[in-house]
Amino acid sequence: MTKVHTPLILVNFKTYSEATGKKAVKLAQTAEKVSLETEVCIGVAPQFVDIAPICHAVSVPVFAQHIDPIAPVSFTGHILPESIREAGAVGTLINHSERQLTLADIDATIKRARETDLLSVVCANNTSISAAAAVLKPNMIAVEPPELIGTRIPVSKAKPEVVSGTVEIVKRINPDVVILCGAGITTREDVAAALRLGTEGVLVASGIVKAKDPYKVLLEFAESITKA
Ligand code: G3P
Repeated sequence: MTKVHTPLILVNFKTYSEATGKKAVKLAQTAEKVSLETEVCIGVAPQFVDIAPICHAVSVPVFAQHIDPIAPVSFTGHILPESIREAGAVGTLINHSERQLTLADIDATIKRARETDLLSVVCANNTSISAAAAVLKPNMIAVEPPELIGTRIPVSKAKPEVVSGTVEIVKRINPDVVILCGAGITTREDVAAALRLGTEGVLVASGIVKAKDPYKVLLEFAESITKA
């Protein structure tokens, strides 16, 4: 099921050791197992070098954590969108708070993603950045207040107004954009709250990657969608 559908649970593997190399493949297999059992779309965003092995091992949608808005010419040490697509990814995060870009670069990166058939998921740290991003016509926007990232304090409960405000303004600007929220998402209630606020999924990292039993937590997340 490499096709992306909503509600979406997108797991960012970041550069956590628990989600690197062979462990990244194993975590992606866990995501696939839960996805097959619940029919909830679960995507993964591993580190670049883990994209191809994961795409060979599983059929869940794989996203890069970043791409550079470059053409296939003479650059060194950059991430070419075409190479990400060829490795099997279906999309990419853009402007994650741990990999921020200028507005001009976000615009150029969304365009390159579109040209290379990659879904663009622009991360935004608040409602106004979400609104600015919506004008650039990405496929998805993930609103994530940076101060809540990794805290286990869920944005959907600590800052519901940021989530609902983002949904309202982004849908007014561009109703086609899928809205996710992230930061501190740790329990099934956090996921349910995110959907109640009008989002179509969550972007999550430590709540899954650092969980003692990622299968159990992912299953709870997925069931909060199927048993809502
Ligand atoms: O990309 C998702 C991320 O920034 C949220 O992190 O650990 O709070 O789920 P976390």
